Amino acid sequence: MDIKGSVALVTGANRGIGAEWVRQLRERGAAKIYAGARDPLSVSPADGVVPIALNVTDKAQVEAAASQAADVNIIINNAAVSYRQPLIGADLDKIHDEFETNVFGPVYVAEAFAPVLEANGGGAIVNALSAVSWFSFPGMAATALPSPRHGISPTHSALNSPIRAPSWSACTPARWPPLWAITSLSTRSIPIRS
Ligand SMILES: NC(=O)c1ccc[n+]([C@@H]2O[C@H](COP(=O)([O-])OP(=O)(O)OC[C@H]3O[C@@H](n4cnc5c(N)ncnc54)[C@H](OP(=O)(O)O)[C@@H]3O)[C@@H](O)[C@H]2O)c1
Repeated sequence: MDIKGSVALVTGANRGIGAEWVRQLRERGAAKIYAGARDPLSVSPADGVVPIALNVTDKAQVEAAASQAADVNIIINNAAVSYRQPLIGADLDKIHDEFETNVFGPVYVAEAFAPVLEANGGGAIVNALSAVSWFSFPGMAATALPSPRHGISPTHSALNSPIRAPSWSACTPARWPPLWAITSLSTRSIPIRS
């Protein structure tokens, strides 16, 4: 999949690694980048970058984004939340939010955009995973459940299943499992000693 000349969409593009995806896609010659954000005004303006309202937990908004960004051929499922939660005694609303954002969000995005990629002659869906797909630790015990974003690892396999919907045959799913980058998500999840 060539980045040069491509049209990409990044979820959670306003900060952290999402903003870096946007920067690097521009640097590598993407023709247009839709920068999805819950607040599009929080996206740093740049040539070729089109802010787009995109809360990945809001199915209607995801579908509206798929109509608006009908020329896309690369999707980066990057948006996520991570709460520092024990598994026992956790705030269940927060665990639900992790699953809704980190697991179902990318599924809503893949479902809405698969026909778009197909109409554009094929493309790629890149799912940001995490090293905590493979282990859990105190303070991130919710990842044991079987781990949102994290849990998208098995979700990713399901998206890549040979029995996926016909329109998905145009998509090349790819996984991107970063280990560690200092962003608000990682420093919230794991205490950093100075
Ligand atoms: N940082 C690391 O070390 C690390 C390690 C492994 C994996 N990752 C993965 O890398 C990705 C980016 O992480 P990060 O460290 O850059 O996190 P971050 O700095 O906390 O940024 C998270 C981004 O997701 C957005 N977001 C949250 N909920 C959303 C929703 N419902 N709809 C749309 N956007 C939403 C946030 O937007 P708002 O500004 O609106 O909150 C923000 O733009 C995540 O998938 C994470 O699991 C990160």
